[in-house]
Amino acid sequence: MKRVLITGSNRGIGLEFTRQYLESGWHVYATCRRPTEAQSLHMLLELHSRLTIHRLDITQQEDINSLCQELMEVPINILINNAGVYFRKRSVGIDCIHYDNWRRTFEVNTLGPVRITEALLGNIAESTTVRLIVVLSSHMERIAEINEGDSFYYRSSKSALNAAMQGISAEMKEQEIGVLLLHPGAVMTRIGPLKGISTRESVSGMRQIIEGFTMEQTGKFFSYDGEEIPW
Ligand SMILES: NC(=O)c1ccc[n+]([C@@H]2O[C@H](COP(=O)([O-])OP(=O)(O)OC[C@H]3O[C@@H](n4cnc5c(N)ncnc54)[C@H](OP(=O)(O)O)[C@@H]3O)[C@@H](O)[C@H]2O)c1
Repeated sequence: MKRVLITGSNRGIGLEFTRQYLESGWHVYATCRRPTEAQSLHMLLELHSRLTIHRLDITQQEDINSLCQELMEVPINILINNAGVYFRKRSVGIDCIHYDNWRRTFEVNTLGPVRITEALLGNIAESTTVRLIVVLSSHMERIAEINEGDSFYYRSSKSALNAAMQGISAEMKEQEIGVLLLHPGAVMTRIGPLKGISTRESVSGMRQIIEGFTMEQTGKFFSYDGEEIPW
């Protein structure tokens, strides 16, 4: 049986990844900050015995350590670094930067996925078939496309995430562990826009890219519709 671990799986894109992988027969390790409040995950638990729910705030080393204990020697085929934040309303320009929110954005969006990747590398290396680290990034990180003074925190956190993941992809090549960066599109979630695509459309597209992944694509960045995004 194939196994996938997803961060931020209680809502939005993470919840849809959980639903789709369960429907396809995978074992899903669904992680979230507050499992007892994750009603949508508990509803899925009633339907699927291949779902386990784990507490994980990706900024908390204690949670990461507990997760590693729970999953000791469990092979994981795919890690989906999905959890993220976007303090949009408080990041509107040079005259109103809230440095604590910027720092917090980096903790979650940049350091978080790197911490989880580091912690679960042993589990990924244990698997004998697919070995893949998926990272949810955003086209908003593209410096060439920045033409307005907003979203400093989010854009810079995702740019730094992409740079870090490039380094990790180079390091992991020898072990045949792939790194795939994905832009989910403009998706109607709490982070996303009011008008956009559904989580179902976004995740279906991203799963097709994941399924077709080959090591030649490691370190590359794709949109959910299959188009490669240049660095
Ligand atoms: N939606 C879009 O248009 C869009 C576009 C480009 C990229 N993305 C990326 O896609 C990913 C998923 O976003 P989404 O659209 O599904 O947004 P969402 O509905 O707001 O979901 C964000 C998820 O991240 C979790 N999270 C936040 N901080 C966390 C932490 N410290 N530890 C663990 N989990 C944490 C949230 O958990 P809580 O419920 O506990 O807060 C929630 O499950 C993000 O990385 C985002 O940057 C989204």
